[in-house]
Amino acid sequence: MTGTDKRLHRRLAKADDLDAVFAIYMHEQVVPYLGYDPMPITAFADIFNELVASRSFFIYEDGAQIAGFYKATRYPGRAQHVVQLGALAVRPDLHGSGVARAMIGDAIACLRIDDVRRIELYVESDNPRAIRFYESLGFQKEALLRQFYKRADQDHYIDEHVMSLIFDDSV
Ligand SMILES: CC(C)(COP(=O)(O)OP(=O)(O)OC[C@H]1O[C@@H](n2cnc3c(N)ncnc32)[C@H](O)[C@@H]1OP(=O)(O)O)[C@@H](O)C(=O)NCCC(=O)NCCS
Repeated sequence: MTGTDKRLHRRLAKADDLDAVFAIYMHEQVVPYLGYDPMPITAFADIFNELVASRSFFIYEDGAQIAGFYKATRYPGRAQHVVQLGALAVRPDLHGSGVARAMIGDAIACLRIDDVRRIELYVESDNPRAIRFYESLGFQKEALLRQFYKRADQDHYIDEHVMSLIFDDSV
């Protein structure tokens, strides 16, 4: 990989990653910030199979174990220079050890040489850790999606920030 952590290896997700991805996705420190409420693995399998079929869901391995993952979806046609990042998570026992920085640094480097000009993402307004992380990589808040997100165990709606990183030709 081109990121800072040479121990991490990137590959596309495959069907037998289900158990390991489920364990990270549904962890209490992760699931509040991803797209789905807690659910049994039988229900998650349908969502996971779609992620695998998309061929845009990337796994980073640390040895034989999954360290983290994200989805990077390229828009078609006149927006083909744009990639949307989503479903980013790191295995909780590795939080704070630089895995996300290495993964997203690698993704940015790969996308940049693949003629991508804009990377965008949505992040919940109550996820300051992730917002700080994206800002440290150069992402900027550019819009607010009001009441976009609601967790089943809460009675209020949450705003989401749209953040983007633009590769400037002049740098
Ligand atoms: C957000 C997340 C992906 C960060 O992954 P990570 O591997 O822990 O992050 P890193 O160790 O690479 O740290 C990157 C930055 O995150 C922030 N960060 C990391 N650990 C932190 C902690 N314990 N407290 C506060 N901020 C922290 C810092 O800004 C850090 O920058 P630094 O390296 O200059 O200190 C991870 O916490 C996670 O999986 N969270 C749950 C899912 C989620 O929030 N996904 C994003 C949805 S938009």
